[in-house]
Amino acid sequence: MNTVTVGPRERVAAAYDPRMPELPATFRAYVVDKPQGGTFSRGLRDVSTADLPPGDVTIRVAWSGVNFKDGLAAREDGRVARSYPLIPGIDLAGTVVASEDPAFAVGAAVLANGYDIGVARHGGYGELARLPSGWVVPMPAGMTARDAMAIGTAGFTAAMSVAALENHGLRAGDGPVLVTGASGGVGSMAVAMLAARGHEVWAATGKTSEADRLARLGAAGFLTREDVTGPGRPLDSARWAGAVDTVGAATLPYVLRTLRIGAAVASSGNASGVELVTTVLPFILRGVALLGMDSGNMAIEPRRVLWGRLAGDLSPRAMLDDAESLTEASLDTLEPALNAIHAGEARGRWVVRVTG
Ligand SMILES: NC(=O)c1ccc[n+]([C@@H]2O[C@H](COP(=O)([O-])OP(=O)(O)OC[C@H]3O[C@@H](n4cnc5c(N)ncnc54)[C@H](OP(=O)(O)O)[C@@H]3O)[C@@H](O)[C@H]2O)c1
Repeated sequence: MNTVTVGPRERVAAAYDPRMPELPATFRAYVVDKPQGGTFSRGLRDVSTADLPPGDVTIRVAWSGVNFKDGLAAREDGRVARSYPLIPGIDLAGTVVASEDPAFAVGAAVLANGYDIGVARHGGYGELARLPSGWVVPMPAGMTARDAMAIGTAGFTAAMSVAALENHGLRAGDGPVLVTGASGGVGSMAVAMLAARGHEVWAATGKTSEADRLARLGAAGFLTREDVTGPGRPLDSARWAGAVDTVGAATLPYVLRTLRIGAAVASSGNASGVELVTTVLPFILRGVALLGMDSGNMAIEPRRVLWGRLAGDLSPRAMLDDAESLTEASLDTLEPALNAIHAGEARGRWVVRVTG
């Protein structure tokens, strides 16, 4: 990839005229790099447009977001980036500026998340992105690019989790539903979605200072991190009608041993680690179900349908309307957000203004 000295923001902005969609020669991006045998670096650069990867849809990125995976992709020890140099950002939303697929006209509002975006090919932390059209989602009616990125992969994964629990049989009124890592992106989104759908939501969080915010999103009860971590009996008192676990190693054993007969947990996260130390008893004596959530590899058709639901019956409206739940960053202020999410300091979501 050719890079030139970082220039003033205005230069790229001025180079793009929506009436004449020629692409600028370079665009601004946050890049992580580790040349073979060289040292790791990260920061803002001007990237040559010629170095965009192959793809039939080129997008002027308006907004992106910050996910746990982005925090890892931006670190040398993150073990997530699969190619260098890399523009991270697993989520992006913006406007089509060049297209070889008639399904995506120039000027169309679109979004994308998952697949190799931001880990094995350039993602959302650049003013331009180029993707295969089979990875692109038309912006759902009524959804702004900023709201889409406030939702991002975290909200998408929360929606997958809620849909999976309800497909498994969970209904409003069945009993309390636990969300772990509740102050984080997936957790906060899950609290908002479940509460809006009439479920009694209990939030497990390591941050007691987050209780007011989570209550505004709809949490009806709270557990501390200590309540949901640490050793226990193979089966503890059956309490939860369902659960969304975003934390993994530290909390999933507790969740499994406290689910009610026939209940399920949607497991998406590894914020505390990847090991799972449990017994088979929850499965064979209570028939509980462990539902795995993989937002990265969901096929494009169900992905487009689920994004449509995020603008409708699965909308996390309370989260989008809560100023304290969203922190706005830009490419210039991205790095502190990437560091903070890796340190477990999330309070809802960061939304990143790229050119929006
Ligand atoms: N499977 C998928 O498709 C998918 C998609 C998106 C995200 N994820 C994963 O889901 C997890 C959450 O993502 P996110 O974007 O919501 O991250 P996040 O915003 O950083 O939230 C994670 C939360 O987990 C809790 N936590 C962190 N470290 C912990 C520890 N050592 N012990 C206990 N709790 C801890 C914290 O919440 P409290 O302080 O409130 O406890 C933290 O805010 C990550 O592991 C991410 O990689 C998976």
